[in-house]
Amino acid sequence: MLDTLDPADPAFARDPYPYYARLRTTGPAARVALANGTDAWLVTGYRQAREVLADPRFSNVPPHAAGRPKPDSPARRARGCLARHMLNTDAPDHTRLRRLTTAAFTPRRVDALRPRIEQLTAELVTDVADRLTRWGAADLVDAFAFPLPVLVIGEVLGVPTADRADLRTWTYQVGSPADALPAGSVDRAWTSLHAYFTSLIAEKRRTPGDDLFSALVHDEAEGGLDDGELLAMAFLLLFAGYETTMNLIASASLLLLTHPEELAAARQGGPARWAAVAEEALRHASPLEGTTWRRTTEEVDLGDGVVLPADASVLVVLAAANRDPGVFPEPDAFRPGRYAASGERAAPHAAFGHGPHFCLGSRLARLEAEVALPMLFGADSRIPALALAADPAGLPYRPGLLVRGPRRLPVVRAGSA
Ligand code: HEM
Repeated sequence: MLDTLDPADPAFARDPYPYYARLRTTGPAARVALANGTDAWLVTGYRQAREVLADPRFSNVPPHAAGRPKPDSPARRARGCLARHMLNTDAPDHTRLRRLTTAAFTPRRVDALRPRIEQLTAELVTDVADRLTRWGAADLVDAFAFPLPVLVIGEVLGVPTADRADLRTWTYQVGSPADALPAGSVDRAWTSLHAYFTSLIAEKRRTPGDDLFSALVHDEAEGGLDDGELLAMAFLLLFAGYETTMNLIASASLLLLTHPEELAAARQGGPARWAAVAEEALRHASPLEGTTWRRTTEEVDLGDGVVLPADASVLVVLAAANRDPGVFPEPDAFRPGRYAASGERAAPHAAFGHGPHFCLGSRLARLEAEVALPMLFGADSRIPALALAADPAGLPYRPGLLVRGPRRLPVVRAGSA
C-alpha cells in the first residue's frame, strides 16, 4: 500500500523531517499518494537528488502546458506570464535563457549591491527597534525577513524608490492565500504587478539604468530576451528571490534565537562564522523544501532497486536530501561548525539545487544573509539582545511541499519577556 501524505496538514508543515526520515528508510526515492488524489515520487536521498537534478531524462516543462485554456481574466494572464519562465523549460530553450541571464547576473554586479543591502538592512533594523520601543514586541518576519529580500529585488530590477512601497504591497498580496485578504485583492495585485512590470520594461528600454535588469533588457546577444520573456523573468526573479530568502533569514534567526551558544560563537567568530551560520541554516532549514516538479521522459533506474516509470511526477525533496544521515552526521543538529573553515568540511548542501537549474541567485541570497544576520544579531547591533516571544514548536508554517519557513517570529528585548 502507498504511503499517504497530506502537505496541508499543519503538523507536517511545522516539522516534516520525521516523515522524510521514515520515508527514507523505504529507499532513496519512494512513491507516495498525495491527499489531492494524485501520486508522486519523492526523492529523499542526497546522491539521488543530485543525480535527478543533473539528468535530462527529468523534464521541467509542466505537463499539458501547450493545451492550457486561454486566460480569461487579466489576473490569469498575469499568472500565465509567470509560467513561461526558465525554470519551466528544458534544453535547448533553457540553455539560451540561462546564458542570457547569467551574462547579466555577474558576480561583480551582485557584489556591487552590498552597500545598498547594508543600507536597507540598517533601515529595517531601526524599524524593528522602533516597533520594540513602541509596542514592546515585533514580528521579525513582517518587519525584517519579508521586506529585505523584496527591497533587494527592487534594486535588482531597478524599481524606482518611489515605487518600492507598491512592490512590497503587491508582493505581499500575491503571496497570501486568497481567503486571507478582502475578496479580489490577490487578483488585483497580480494585475497591478503585471501592468507595473510591463511599463518597467518599456521604461528600461527607453532609459537603461545601471541595474541588473537593464543589462538583461539591453543584452542583444542571440537576439536577447523578448518582452514576454523579460516579463516572465521579472516575475521569476521576484518569486524565486523573495520567499526563499525570507525563509532563509527567518529560519536562521529562529535557529540563532534557540541556540544561544551558536549565537555567541558567531558574535566572536567574525564574517566567516556568520557565513557558516547561513550555510548551515540553508542545510538544516532548506528554504525551498522541494524543487519544482520534474517529469520522467522515460523509465529511469536510480540504482538501489529504485526504478521510476516513464511519465512519473517527481519531487526532489531538498530538505530531506540535506538531512541524509549517510552524508551529514547528526543531520538534525544545527552545527555551523560543519561549514567553518576549521570545521569538518561537510559535503555541500543541496539547498540551491544542482545541475542546469542551479539557483541563479545563490550569491545574492548568501550576501543578503551574511549582511542581515550580523547587523541584526551581532555584538554591534542596535538591538543587542533579542528573545523569542513564542514557543518555537507552535510557530505557524506555510503548508505545502515547496517552500518552508516560519510565517511569524515574535521577539522582545531579552529581559522583558
Ligand atoms: C532556481 C533555491 C534565492 C533566482 C533555484 C533552485 C533552487 C533555488 C533550489 C532550483 C529549483 C529547481 O531545480 O527546480 C534558492 C534559495 C534561495 C534562492 C534557497 C534563498 C535562500 C534566489 C534569489 C534569486 C534566485 C535571491 C534572484 C534574485 C533563481 C532563478 C532560478 C532559481 C532565476 C531558476 C534558474 C534556472 O531555471 O536555471 N533557486 N534560491 N534565487 N533561483 Fe533561487
